[in-house]
Amino acid sequence: MEQTFIMIKPDGMRRGLAGELMARFEKRGFILKAAKLMRVSPELSKKHYAEHADKPFYPGLEQFITSGPVLAMVWQGHDVVRIARAMMGATDAAQAPSGTIRGDYSTSKSENIIHGSDSVPSAQREMALFFAPGELV
Ligand code: RTP
Ligand code: MG
Repeated sequence: MEQTFIMIKPDGMRRGLAGELMARFEKRGFILKAAKLMRVSPELSKKHYAEHADKPFYPGLEQFITSGPVLAMVWQGHDVVRIARAMMGATDAAQAPSGTIRGDYSTSKSENIIHGSDSVPSAQREMALFFAPGELV
C-alpha cells in the first residue's frame, strides 16, 4: 500500500493545529504508520529541501523549518501521495482553495502549515530521512 511523508511545520504546531490536521487524514481513511515530535536541524533541512538549497528563498525556509518543533508522520492508503497533496492545497496558501488545509489555515507562501511529499520517490526518500524502517508500525 502507498505511503507518504507528512510534516506539520512549526507554524502549525505553534498554532495548536496538530490534532485537527491528524483528524483530517484519519477521517479521509488513511492509516497512521509513524509519528515523531522533533526539531529539524539545519543539516536535516538541507537534505529534506535539497532541491531548493540553491534558491534565494532557502535561507528563510531553513530558518523557519528549524524554528520550533514539527510533527513528522508517515500515512498510508490508496493514492495517498496525490490525495494528501490535494488536501493540503497550493504551496502559496493565498492561492489555496477554502476546504484545503492551507486554504483554511494560512494566507502565507512560507508559513504554510504542512508538508507533503510530491511523488512516490520523494515520499520514499523523505521517509528514510526522518524514520528508521523499524519505526513504522
Ligand atoms: P513543501 O515541500 O514544504 O510541502 O511545499 P510544496 O511542495 O508545496 O512547495 P515546494 O516548491 O516544495 O517549496 C518548499 C517550501 O519552500 C517555500 N517556498 N518559498 N518564496 C518562494 O518563492 C518560495 N517557494 C517555495 C515554501 O514554504 C514551500 O512550502
Ligand atoms: Mg515540496
